[in-house]
Amino acid sequence: MRKIPTNSLPSAAKASLPAKTELPLDLRGPHVTAGASAAHRLYQALCEMIVSSLVKPGEPLPPSRTLAKQTGFRRNAVVIAYERLIADGFAEAKVGSGTFVAARIPARTAAPGKPKVAVDAPRQGAFALGCTHIDERAVQRFRAFVGRRMRAFGAEHLHYGDPRGSRELRAAIADHLLSARGLRCDPDQIVITSGTLHALRLVLSAILKAGDQVWCEDPGYPIARKTIAHCGYRAVPVPVDEHGMRVAKGRTAAPNARAAYVTPSHQFPLGVQMSMPRRLELLDWARQAGAFVLEDDYDSEFRYDGAPLMSLAGIDRLQRVIYLGTFAKTLFPGLRIGYCALPERLIADVTAARAALDRFPGTLMEGAVADMLNSGAFAANLKRVRKLYREARDALAETLEAASDGALSVPVPSQGLHLVARFAPSVDPSVAARARQAAGAEGWLLADTYSRAPPLPGYVLGFSGHAVPLLVASAERLARESRAALRTRNKSARRA
Ligand SMILES: Cc1ncc(COP(=O)(O)O)c(C=O)c1O
Repeated sequence: MRKIPTNSLPSAAKASLPAKTELPLDLRGPHVTAGASAAHRLYQALCEMIVSSLVKPGEPLPPSRTLAKQTGFRRNAVVIAYERLIADGFAEAKVGSGTFVAARIPARTAAPGKPKVAVDAPRQGAFALGCTHIDERAVQRFRAFVGRRMRAFGAEHLHYGDPRGSRELRAAIADHLLSARGLRCDPDQIVITSGTLHALRLVLSAILKAGDQVWCEDPGYPIARKTIAHCGYRAVPVPVDEHGMRVAKGRTAAPNARAAYVTPSHQFPLGVQMSMPRRLELLDWARQAGAFVLEDDYDSEFRYDGAPLMSLAGIDRLQRVIYLGTFAKTLFPGLRIGYCALPERLIADVTAARAALDRFPGTLMEGAVADMLNSGAFAANLKRVRKLYREARDALAETLEAASDGALSVPVPSQGLHLVARFAPSVDPSVAARARQAAGAEGWLLADTYSRAPPLPGYVLGFSGHAVPLLVASAERLARESRAALRTRNKSARRA
């Protein structure tokens, strides 16, 4: 043990300022971490005593033996606490004289109070979007894969990794994209991200400069719009019709845009599929303008009727299209693993952007996700939950149609995890807002997904990850309130 000076020898300092035999120590207050080591608790109590001016600068502290006797701690704990006080500048050691409160100590600042910033808790009630269900057998397989990977924990986690993520997981994703989405790419074109929004941000930062314009569907995914604006780019709303984004309108509104963010397989929120002529028109624009298309393929694994369509990136063969995928829906959101597949010409820039932003993805879960994909557990889970989601979709659509008595029309989506329930276009969107509030329902107002186009009245309702009886009861309530809000509206329109 390092010998630290004690106050046992006579000194000038001691003669003028005698060491207190009993220090005014509070070893139980909120400044002390219960359960921490004796040395740490004593250190915290000594700090508190010093910064509260219960002892004066330059005042001698008692010898370690004396303080050990006062506190009941071992002398060793006192010595460690004194050493740390000295190292942190709260005390000074004078050889031959002892340990003294430092001549200058940090001014006491107000104890941090509980922050008053309100952060909304994520919504999880019936109709909340983004909820998922993972089959119990898949959970067991995932647990087993994670356990096996943790038992084999080795060097791959001890070093900084490839900014694109593990090659093993990238190879498993490349296989999945080929079989599920008709997209052929090399694992080296894939970058693992912590979800779609992270991929969006990463890719945009590599291809755009501040203030550049990005076409966004209107209505569209408001969270992606926020991400684009948050990064300092300008989201340009481009209207959507039954064929998807109206490319001609985009050309007029922002011919010099550098990118377009689209959901071509299942437009969010309306659910339309981008037609082949529109797809080709969009790709023509991107080639002519030297722009890139970001294809958010967020829910194509959940196709209920027929085979999934080829992705836009598959048609383009990853020349001008960047493909964004996520495991937030196919496995679970808490995994925070998504990915993008890149045109070869962007690999270096996106990899450099990733390294600059947050170096590389966490490695602990990558192996287990690769195991899920390679073992077939991922596909088996999808098959089982697809069946559940289809039942949930049908129950929700049928209940809304029947219980709203014609007030709402509910097209049944052939893909995805949400549906749109609409009032007649002539109804004011405030009717939906009122009914939703009266029903205490979650999900979104359709109007909130619009930027500039005149909003349609209705709701965007998630059906995945919610029990069918809850969905049915909530749908009955929402339909009832929708009828009531419409009646009130019609009455006041007649009176006016
Ligand atoms: C349109 C759309 N894209 C992407 C995502 C997934 O985003 P992330 O992977 O960042 O969780 C969602 C989730 O609800 C979505 O609705």
